[in-house]
Amino acid sequence: MIQLTPPMGWNSWNTFGPNISEETLKTAADALVETGLRDAGYIYLVIDDCWALKQRDENGRLVADPVKFPNGIKAVSDYVHAKGLKLGIYSCAGTMTCAQYPGSYEYEFVDAATFAEWGIDFLKYDYCFKPEFELGELLYRRMGLALANCGRDILFSACSWGNDDTKSWIKTTGAHMWRSTHDVMDSWESIKTRAKEQFEIQRFNGMGCFNDMDMLVVGMNGKGNVGLSASSATQYRTHFALWALLGSPLMIGCDIRTADEETMALLKNKELIAINQDPAYRQPFLLGGFRNWKVGIDEDHFCFAKFLENGDIAIGMFNLSDSDSNMFFHLTELGLSRICGKKLVMTDAFTGEIVESRAGQFTSFVEKHGCKVYRCRLADE
Ligand code: GLA
Repeated sequence: MIQLTPPMGWNSWNTFGPNISEETLKTAADALVETGLRDAGYIYLVIDDCWALKQRDENGRLVADPVKFPNGIKAVSDYVHAKGLKLGIYSCAGTMTCAQYPGSYEYEFVDAATFAEWGIDFLKYDYCFKPEFELGELLYRRMGLALANCGRDILFSACSWGNDDTKSWIKTTGAHMWRSTHDVMDSWESIKTRAKEQFEIQRFNGMGCFNDMDMLVVGMNGKGNVGLSASSATQYRTHFALWALLGSPLMIGCDIRTADEETMALLKNKELIAINQDPAYRQPFLLGGFRNWKVGIDEDHFCFAKFLENGDIAIGMFNLSDSDSNMFFHLTELGLSRICGKKLVMTDAFTGEIVESRAGQFTSFVEKHGCKVYRCRLADE
C-alpha cells in the first residue's frame, strides 16, 4: 500500500499503558466517532503494547490475553470497522516487546498472517530486545516483506526511535512512517527536545514514509501513562502546531473519552489538520535567517513556511524561549519581491482572524512557549 499523507489516529499507550482491554478500545472507538475526531481525519485506533499473553500457542502464534480481550482481537476489529475506523496493533522486531511480551523476531511471517486474519490495518513495530548480532534494517525489511505479502493492506509504522541510523535505511524497508525520536512525555521540556531533534532530520521526511515525532500529549494534563509535569494550554497548542507543520503523523494519546472542549478544539483544528494533510506534502523551509535545519540546540525562535498544493503558504512562527518576543520574517524569503504586485492575506489558524501583509517585513507578537500559525493566500495589491 502507499500512504500519501501522514496517518492520523489514536494510540492506547500514553493514557493506558498496560491497562488496556476490549472495553477500553471499544469506548475509545465510540469516542473517536462521537466527538467528531474520526470525521476530522483520525481513523486509526491503535492497540499498543501489553495486549498479548506472555506465551505463544502450540503453533507459534500470538494469543490475545483472554482477560483483557475475552472475545479476541477479531471482535475488536469488527467493532472498529463497523464504526468506519481502522485497527492498529503493536509488536516488536526483537525477541520481546518493550514491556516483555513476545516479540515478532523469527515469527515475522506467522505474525503478519495472524494480523491479516484478525483484520488489522496498522502495525506499530518497536525495537526492544533486538538480538545484538542482527541488523535492525534487516529486521524491519523482513517485517516489511511479511506485511506486503500477507494479503491485506497493513500500514507499517516503524518504531526504532531513530536508533542505528534509522534514517539512512528506513525507506528501503516498506515502512510508511518511522519514529524519528525517542518517546515524548507530557512536559514542556520533552516537547521542546523532541521538536528540536526533529530539525536535524527533517530533510529525511517525505511522502510515503513520514518522520513520526511520536504520539501527541495534547490534553493529557499530567494524567495517564506518560504524564509528567503536564503542559499548559499554550504549550499544547505549540506542540500540536509543530507536529502538524513538520508533517508528523498525528496520533492522539490523551483520554478522548473525557477530554475537555479546549483539547478537542485543538485536536480538530481544521487549518492545522489541512496543513498537515496537504496533498502536495511539500517540506517546510526556515525563514528569518536560519537557512538550514541545524539551528543549534540553544535556538528557541524560528519561523518556517510550507508551500501548499493550492498555491497558499503556511507560516509558523515559534517562540520556545521563556520570554515573550516580537518575531518577524521578510516576504522576500517566500519569493515575493517588493514589486511583484502580490500581498498576503493571512488567516490565523487559531483565531480565524485575518490580517494582511504587503511587501517587506511581517512582524508578530509571539508569547513565550507560544506560536502563531497562518494560512496565507496570495492576492493582488
Ligand atoms: C516503546 C515505544 C512506546 C511504547 C512502548 C510500549 O517505549 O517507544 O511508544 O510503544 O515501547 O512498551
